[in-house]
Amino acid sequence: MINLQSLLRKLIFRSVNWISRKFFASRLSYSHIEAFIFCNSFKKLLNFLLVHYEKARGIEILKSYPYLFVFEVTNVCNLKCPFCLTGKGISGDRAVRHVTFEEAKKIIDEVGDYIYLLQLYTWGEPLLNKDIYKIIEYAKSKRIFVMISTNATVMNEKNNQKLIDSGIDYVMVAIDGGSQETYPQYRVGGNYNQVFENLSNLLEMKKKSGNTRPFVEWQFIVFRHNEHEVEETEKIAYEIGINKFTPLPAYVEDKDWLPQGDKYKVEAFNPERLMDCDRPWTHLNYRADGGIASCCYEFYKKDDFGEAIHTPFSEIWNNEFFRESRKLIVQKRRGKTLDKSDLICYDCLESGLRPSFIESPTETQTAQKIIATVEIVEEKPQPKI
Ligand SMILES: C[S@@+](CC[C@H](N)C(=O)[O-])C[C@H]1O[C@@H](n2cnc3c(N)ncnc32)[C@H](O)[C@@H]1O
Ligand code: SF4
Repeated sequence: MINLQSLLRKLIFRSVNWISRKFFASRLSYSHIEAFIFCNSFKKLLNFLLVHYEKARGIEILKSYPYLFVFEVTNVCNLKCPFCLTGKGISGDRAVRHVTFEEAKKIIDEVGDYIYLLQLYTWGEPLLNKDIYKIIEYAKSKRIFVMISTNATVMNEKNNQKLIDSGIDYVMVAIDGGSQETYPQYRVGGNYNQVFENLSNLLEMKKKSGNTRPFVEWQFIVFRHNEHEVEETEKIAYEIGINKFTPLPAYVEDKDWLPQGDKYKVEAFNPERLMDCDRPWTHLNYRADGGIASCCYEFYKKDDFGEAIHTPFSEIWNNEFFRESRKLIVQKRRGKTLDKSDLICYDCLESGLRPSFIESPTETQTAQKIIATVEIVEEKPQPKI
């Protein structure tokens, strides 16, 4: 039976989610609030205010720095989830590789003083990067709130200890199912019993260590084949010590995957709709090949705004691509006709559809296998100049 404490917890999370959906286009989460409260400083706060001043005024050449950092520490994965571009074996014409600690240190040194929240994944499985624990520790030394989403396949005892010791704040574990019958239908290549054991081990080790960190969320993507397991899995999740259980409506490309119940139903082939965009003022999106993307919805190398392994951040943030994207967003906001542009932001703003998950017809590497055993290809990053 779910007790009073978990009911209260559910109520709080649902309220935060409701407020977030209603007022922040789903862009505010519990971790954002925690990051703002616990990882603040005078310098960060001044920068935060400056970001919003510059955004409100529609300024294109910024004095402020981004305060949210989406950092893809790897684009390698060991699973083949059918609606994930990485799972489909699509690289976006990028080198398939892990970010090194030195590369991570460079960018964290450049922007870390202003960052509240560091999300260490976009596509790919973050825990496959062996440097991730060192990267987390380094970010924590700068008082940044650090989170990951993981498929939990490589969370063995040794790695769990390293994860706890790294000081990570938030671990989202993506397990879509409550049994071996259902789970591997989407998480192709994964084993339910294994990931459940890995997760239980993390929670036990956290309990033994006496730490309240990391906050652990179980994210359950709801499809037709697993919708009947949501309630039972939620119960089990709280029993083993999960902090938050989230049944998540799925993005699907085949309507046969849609749940039959109304609760988690979404429209097939329906990528997220555009709301007012502030990302080129607030977010830094770093891809595993060093590419700087416009936002987390951008996938293909050809759409990058720059590269950050060899280029100082100060030369990227106000370059012609960022300036142009800010100009387009301001035009849209003010109801003006958009200047014709080759930037990905132009299509995104014109159509109102975010480009996430949409396969590019120009993609040339669809057959490339992005799996853990792949030989790591080092390519010289090619910024769009
Ligand atoms: C591309 S994954 C990368 C991180 C990690 N490999 C994982 O699976 O958690 C980023 C997020 O997308 C979510 N995701 C994957 N397929 C999805 C789908 N069809 N609908 C909604 N979210 C999905 C994952 O659960 C994860 O939280
Ligand atoms: S585990 Fe994550 S990155 Fe890997 S294929 Fe699945 S959703 Fe994509």
